[in-house]
Amino acid sequence: MLKIALTGASGLVGSRIIEILKDRFDFIPVSQDRMDITNKDQVEKNLSNLEFDIFLHLAAYTDVDGAEKEKTAAYVINVKGTENVFKTVKKLGKKFIYVSTDFVFDGQKPPYFEDSQPNPISYYGLTKYEGERIVRDQAMIVRFSYPYRARFDQKKDFVRTIKTFLEQQKSLTMVNDSLMTPTFIDDIAESFGHLFLNFSPKIYHIVGQDSMSPFQAARKIAETFNLDSRLISSISYDKYFKNKAKRPKLADMKSKKNDFFSMKTFSQGLKILSQSSMI
Ligand SMILES: NC(=O)c1ccc[n+]([C@@H]2O[C@H](COP(=O)([O-])OP(=O)(O)OC[C@H]3O[C@@H](n4cnc5c(N)ncnc54)[C@H](OP(=O)(O)O)[C@@H]3O)[C@@H](O)[C@H]2O)c1
Repeated sequence: MLKIALTGASGLVGSRIIEILKDRFDFIPVSQDRMDITNKDQVEKNLSNLEFDIFLHLAAYTDVDGAEKEKTAAYVINVKGTENVFKTVKKLGKKFIYVSTDFVFDGQKPPYFEDSQPNPISYYGLTKYEGERIVRDQAMIVRFSYPYRARFDQKKDFVRTIKTFLEQQKSLTMVNDSLMTPTFIDDIAESFGHLFLNFSPKIYHIVGQDSMSPFQAARKIAETFNLDSRLISSISYDKYFKNKAKRPKLADMKSKKNDFFSMKTFSQGLKILSQSSMI
């Protein structure tokens, strides 16, 4: 069985990848307690004694708004941390997969394919793009966008955040003139099932089948879970993001490379969640 060592195994995406693929791959989580990726010596010490075929690097500073205020933390984890892990894995002659985001794009000229030109507009996006530049052409880069999944109490994805608001009868204001591409994490996991077996140092967009405005996405969530959509009102992108970290406005993400797994539409993913006991 192929041995996959990984950082970020306790996170929103990593934990689900392991749940879904655990019978097909031998996962070796390298947790932050054992190896802080910002500590080069710790990284070298831990990885040189580890037996693995591929290293999947999911760990990151992922708080987009926080990154604007805590620039040093975001930089050290996302850029230096990536460099520490990548250089060590490369020295060991092993394969490396770097996970990135739609936030490397500026959202001005959709759609965005694997070969579109990044131009980050937030500090988080900038640090993730710097990470890409360190590994480019020598590692696989997998970008995804707005991942959502079955229940995960440690961190709420956007579907759960909206669902919880509506369940608590709280009103919500959602942007109606921008685009996002929600991605079902179970599909990300299945795609990795293919990518681990077919490694190549290229960029892949593993993203949902359709894009919509956050306002439309919130209405779909209300409809699927029989919640009151009248609680959702709309706002323009410019007004909403006036004093916040910018997200790419028209993040219509597409793939030219994913011919191996058929990603779900947002409605299909939500339907599966609504029928699951894990929601
Ligand atoms: N979530 C999204 O909306 C989204 C969208 C696109 C791309 N991505 C990318 O997908 C990847 C996974 O995201 P996620 O949402 O699953 O992450 P997450 O739930 O926020 O988890 C982050 C992980 O990084 C680990 N970590 C943070 N600092 C570390 C350090 N100094 N040393 C070692 N480990 C450290 C954390 O370990 P602890 O649990 O021990 O703190 C945790 O396991 C990231 O690379 C992210 O940029 C995420």
